[in-house]
Amino acid sequence: MNILGIETSCDETGVALYSTETGLVAHALHSQVDLHAVYGGVVPEIASRDHIRMLLPLIQQVMSDAGIDKPDAIAYTAGPGLVGALMVGGGMANGLGLAWDCPVIPVHHMEGHLVAPMLEDKPPAFPFLALLVSGGHSMLIAVRELGDYRLLGTTLDDAVGEAFDKTAKLLGLGYPGGPALAALAEDGDEQAFDFPRPMINKPNFDFSFSGLKTAVMLEVRKAEAEGRLEACRADLAASFQRAAVDTLVAKSIKAAHAEGLERIVVAGGVGANKLLRKDIAERFDGEVYYPRLAFCTDNGAMIAVAGALRFAEADQAAEIKAQARWSLETLATPASA
Ligand code: KG4
Ligand code: ZN
Repeated sequence: MNILGIETSCDETGVALYSTETGLVAHALHSQVDLHAVYGGVVPEIASRDHIRMLLPLIQQVMSDAGIDKPDAIAYTAGPGLVGALMVGGGMANGLGLAWDCPVIPVHHMEGHLVAPMLEDKPPAFPFLALLVSGGHSMLIAVRELGDYRLLGTTLDDAVGEAFDKTAKLLGLGYPGGPALAALAEDGDEQAFDFPRPMINKPNFDFSFSGLKTAVMLEVRKAEAEGRLEACRADLAASFQRAAVDTLVAKSIKAAHAEGLERIVVAGGVGANKLLRKDIAERFDGEVYYPRLAFCTDNGAMIAVAGALRFAEADQAAEIKAQARWSLETLATPASA
């Protein structure tokens, strides 16, 4: 069965064709980063308009690359995300579903991130601990099977991706800050500043990143006042990244041990962070899984895979679903699983 996946929840237009027999067949991605960069963050109206502009050409490209006329089903991101942006994907998916007379499957964006490692050669088996870290979320989830999610901990303030983005802004880097900050950190000394590892010794699995961001801000102001900011920007970036990664890795390992889970899946945009990938694999005594770098950030392939796993729910989708907020814990295990 061939599933067309459509992702439009934020600032990437992602389209992919996934075969349940042979895996990923074709995919295409258009990033809106340049459009939003001048504003320092995503502008929802601009995002929706650009999805409108790009979605159909990308679908045509993927279908032509895959060499097929119509898929067997269409999966689209139904939330959480920017409602206007979601409606572009949902409207397109349901319109094409009518035209092609094929089932349409609404997909939870974070479940897409969760199953993204299943696109790789060595997919994770259930159960596992998921560290879901993106621009909007930082979550530790006990995943017993598809749809069986128990939230063990989440962020009390900023999501980790948001903390990367805001800290990058303080350091004068462009949007999105995460990759830029990680690149700058490569030239810095991660021990130059001893930033706090927020909540690392607390017995729960929650995160808090605003204190860390504030600690960087105070050092930036001090360095600026003393005229040495330029000389220590890379050190600030490296020390921030080290503190953030230490916190994520320590909490993930503690949660996996507490739950008796031997596998950790790292997913979401921040999962592209090389230090995080390296550290968690080195420090955890079980197996660690993550998607290839290109499928950590938003993409259509993860939505197509999630759609394949949720195929049984296709017929219930007699409406265009676009939900800004949608808790992962409200999902259920598919009847067919
Ligand atoms: O999952 P994603 O593409 O979009 C959301 O659903 O939020 O995640 C985007 C987030 C941004 O905050 C971005 O700065 C961060 O992921 N990110 C990174 C890296 N690449 C992307 N953060 C740290 N290191 C990276 N290499
Ligand atoms: Zn995402």
